[in-house]
Amino acid sequence: MTSPHDETHANPEPAIAVVMASLSLGGRRVLNAIDLECAYGHVTALIGPNGAGKSTLLSLAAGDVRPDTGHVSLAGRRLEDLSVAELAAHRAVMPQDSVLRFAYQVEEVVRMGRALRDLPPARDDTVVTESLRTAEIEHLASRDAMTLSGGEQARTTFARVLAQETSILLLDEPTAALDLRHQERLLRSARALARAGSCVVVVLHDLNLAAAHADRLVLLADGGVEAQGTPWQVLDAGRLTRVYRQPVSVLTHPRRHCPVIVTCDAEGDDAEGLAPSHEADNPMEASFPS
Ligand SMILES: Nc1ncnc2c1ncn2[C@@H]1O[C@H](COP(=O)(O)OP(=O)(O)OP(=O)(O)O)[C@@H](O)[C@H]1O
Ligand SMILES: [Mg+2]
Repeated sequence: MTSPHDETHANPEPAIAVVMASLSLGGRRVLNAIDLECAYGHVTALIGPNGAGKSTLLSLAAGDVRPDTGHVSLAGRRLEDLSVAELAAHRAVMPQDSVLRFAYQVEEVVRMGRALRDLPPARDDTVVTESLRTAEIEHLASRDAMTLSGGEQARTTFARVLAQETSILLLDEPTAALDLRHQERLLRSARALARAGSCVVVVLHDLNLAAAHADRLVLLADGGVEAQGTPWQVLDAGRLTRVYRQPVSVLTHPRRHCPVIVTCDAEGDDAEGLAPSHEADNPMEASFPS
C-alpha cells in the first residue's frame, strides 16, 4: 500500500488528542470526561461492551460529532478549526454500518475515496488498483456494489478508506462481517499502515483480534475509559469479567505470544461473584478451567 504522508513522522503532536470530552445524547451522558491520545505509528483498538461509547468516540475523533465540553484535536489542530476539505485530508472513516445503498460499481465506490481529497489525479488509477488489491476485491471491480455480500461490501468500504490516503484511519468494527482470512488481512494492512507512520484507530469486539494486532488497547465502559495500555496490561481476566459481565480466562497464544481470551461457563469457580483473577499478570500460568 502507498505510504501515508511523510509529514506524520515530523509532526510531534499526537495524531488524535481527546481532552476531557463529554457528550450527552437524548438526555443521556454517553461519553464522560474522556482523555485519550492516539499516536502516529500505532494501531489503537477501542474495545468495550455494546453501548460503551466506542462508535460515539470514533465520531468525535472524526469530527462528525462535537463534544459538549472538552475538545478534540487532529495533528495538533482543533477540529472546529478544520474545514471539511482539511478533515478529509486528515482522516478517513469506515463506519460501523458500511452497507452500500447506491448502485455504483465497486471501483467507483473505491474511487470516491480520492474524490473526497484534493489530490492530483495522476496517481488515482494506481492507488485505486492497489486499494482493490489490498482488500482482495479486484475481481469485483465492475460489480454493482449493492449486489455484494456483507463482507464484500465491508472490504469495498475499507478499500475506499485506503484510497483516501490519509494519515489517520478510523475504522468502526471493520472485521465484523469478514471471514477469518479477511479479518487477518485487513488488520495486517492496518498494522502495515501504522508501521509506515499512520495512526489507526479500530473498534473491535473480537478481543483476540485486538490482542493480536493492536499496539494499544483502550477499554471503554459506560462512556468512560476503564483501562488503556498494552494488550497484556488491559486484558486482565478479572477486569474483562467485570466489565463484560461474562466470565473469561486469559491464555497465551501459542505462536504470537499475545493474550487469548476464552469465555467460560457462568457456573463454577470462575463465575463465583465474577471475582477478579490475576492470570494476565503471569500469562504463562493462565489456564482454561476444566
Ligand atoms: N442519538 C442518540 N440518542 C440517544 N442515545 C444515543 C444516541 N446515539 C448513541 N446513543 C447511546 O449512546 C451509547 C453509546 O453508543 P455507541 O454507538 O457509541 O456504543 P458502542 O460502544 O459503539 O456500542 P456497539 O458495540 O453496540 O456498537 C449507547 O447507549 C447508545 O444507545
Ligand atoms: Mg458501535
